[in-house]
Amino acid sequence: MIVTSALPYVYSIPHLGNFVGSVLPADVYSKYLKMKGDDVIFICGSDQHGTPIELAAVKKGIEPEQLANEMHETVKKLFEKYECTFTYYGKTHTQENREVTYNVFNELYNNGYILEREDMQAYCNVDKRYLTDRFIQGTCPYCKKRSARGDQCDNCGRLLEPTQIIEPFCAICGKSDIKFLKTKNLALELNKLEGNVKEFIKKNSKHEWSKDAINKSLSMIKEELKPRDITRNMKWGFPVPLAGYENSVVYVWFDAVLGYIGITQEWDARRWRDYWQNEHTQLVQFLGKDNTIFHTIMWPAMLIGSKLGFVLPYTIKESQFLVSKKLKFSKSQGVGLNMKSALEFLGPDYWRFALMYMYPENADSEFTQESLVEVVNTVLNDKIGNLAQRVLKLAKSNKELINKDIKVSGEERISKILDKYRDSFDKLQLKKAVGAVVELADLGNEIMSKKEPWILAKKAKENVAHAKEFTEIFDSLIAITYSLAIALYPFTPKASKELLRYFSIKSEPTLKLLSDPVNLDFSAEPKPLFQKMTNKDEKLRKYE
Ligand code: MF3
Ligand code: ZN
Repeated sequence: MIVTSALPYVYSIPHLGNFVGSVLPADVYSKYLKMKGDDVIFICGSDQHGTPIELAAVKKGIEPEQLANEMHETVKKLFEKYECTFTYYGKTHTQENREVTYNVFNELYNNGYILEREDMQAYCNVDKRYLTDRFIQGTCPYCKKRSARGDQCDNCGRLLEPTQIIEPFCAICGKSDIKFLKTKNLALELNKLEGNVKEFIKKNSKHEWSKDAINKSLSMIKEELKPRDITRNMKWGFPVPLAGYENSVVYVWFDAVLGYIGITQEWDARRWRDYWQNEHTQLVQFLGKDNTIFHTIMWPAMLIGSKLGFVLPYTIKESQFLVSKKLKFSKSQGVGLNMKSALEFLGPDYWRFALMYMYPENADSEFTQESLVEVVNTVLNDKIGNLAQRVLKLAKSNKELINKDIKVSGEERISKILDKYRDSFDKLQLKKAVGAVVELADLGNEIMSKKEPWILAKKAKENVAHAKEFTEIFDSLIAITYSLAIALYPFTPKASKELLRYFSIKSEPTLKLLSDPVNLDFSAEPKPLFQKMTNKDEKLRKYE
C-alpha cells in the first residue's frame, strides 16, 4: 500500500489549514496501518517548482533553487517536530523526478497525447520576462475584485485567460507596462483520454472516495475535457525536453504529481517498483479540495496515456477547508498562525489531536480559539489525561487488589468501541476514529463516577466484598486505559508512548498488543499526561 499526502508548496510555511488538509490525516492513517502491521509506505515531499517560489526568489534576489532547497529543509524539520513519520519526505527538484517527468512526457508525446499550439502570453517590458500564472495580476472580469492572478481569480475562483484580466500589472515590478505576445505551448490532450479517465473514476471511486471528489470529477468530465497546457514560459522548473521549447519549463502540476513516484525513487532506487509498478498496490491519496481535479483527472490521464504501468489512485481522500474568520492562517512567511508559530504555545500532540478533532472531513469547519480551548481542556486534559492518571495512581496505591491477567478482550463494551475504531479507520472515516477514542475515555469516566473506586479502596481492608468489587472495576479501568494508550497513537504519538511505559511497553505500539495480557509497571509515579491551556489566549490574540 502507498499512502501519499499532497506535496506542499514551499514558498511559505504551511499553515494549520494546509496541515490538517492532507499531511496530518495521511500521517494519522499511515500510523494506524503500521500499527495494524500492513506493508505500507508513506510518501510526501516539497513541491518546489511553480511561479510563487520563483517570484519569492526574484524578490529576495536569490536563485529559486536555493530558496526552494532552504524552504524544503525548514518545512521538513517542521513536519518532524509535529511527529510526522514519513517513509520518505523528499522534494520535486531532483534528478530522479526529472527522469520520471521526462519519461512520462516522452511517452505521452510518442503515444500522440501532446498537442503543440500557439497562445497569447503576457510579457513585462520592464522585467523582460513572461508573466505566467501568479506573475500577472489585476482585476477580475467577473467579480471585479483586484484578486485576479494569472489563470484564476482568488476571490470568485473562476478560471481566467490572462488576456481577460482588467488593468493587468506585473507582480514583480508592480507596473502595467505589459504586452501580449504569441507563444508556443504544449498541451495534454485530455479529450483523447476522456473515456479512460471516466472508466477509472467509475471503477476506483468505489473505494471510499470522498463524495465531493466523485461529484466534482464526474461533472468536469460531463462538460467534456479540453487540452490543458503542460508548459510555461518561465525559467524555474524542468526545461521542456523538446526542440523549439528551450525557453519553457514543464508546468508545475505535471512534475508535482509525478513527484510521488520520483520521491519514492529517491527513497529507494530499487524497491520503488514493488509499489508503483505492482497491480496489487493500493494507492491512497490525501489532499485538499483545491487539488482534487489534478489528482482525479490530470494525473490519471498522464499515467494511463504514458502506458508505463504505474498504479492509479485507489482512494482519493479529499478534505474540505479549515477556516478561521478571526485568526490569520497566513500564507506569507513568518506572519500569522502557521505551523511554526503554532508550536510556540502548544505542543505537537495537542495540535495533532485538536486539528483531527476539527478535521474538515466532509464540510468546511471553523477554527476558533474557543473550540481549541474546549478540545484541549475538556477532551484531551479532563476526559483523557485525567482519567489515565487517576486510574494509574489508584492502581499503584492498591497493587495487591489488581488482577495479574487483565485482558482487553474480556471486556465486551471496550471491544465494541475498539471494533468501531478499527472499522472507522478501515473505511477512512477519521473523525469517527477520533470519536471512538473519546468514547473509550467516556466509558472510563462513567465507571469512575458511578462506582467511586477510591471509596471502595478505603473500605477494602475490612470488607472483602468491597475489595472484590474494586478488583473487578479495575479489570475494566485498566483495560480501558491500556486500550486508550494504544488507540491514541496515531493522534498523539508522544502521549501514547508515555502512557504505554506504565504498561511495560517501550516499542512502537501495534494493534496486536490489544490481545496480549496487560503487564502493569508500578515503578514510576503516574504523571499528568496533558496540561490545560492557561493564559495562552493573549498569545493567540496576536494572530487576530
Ligand atoms: N503543491 C500543491 C499545493 O500545496 C499540491 C501539489 S500535490 C501534488 O496545493 F500532487 F502535485 F503533488
Ligand atoms: Zn473574480
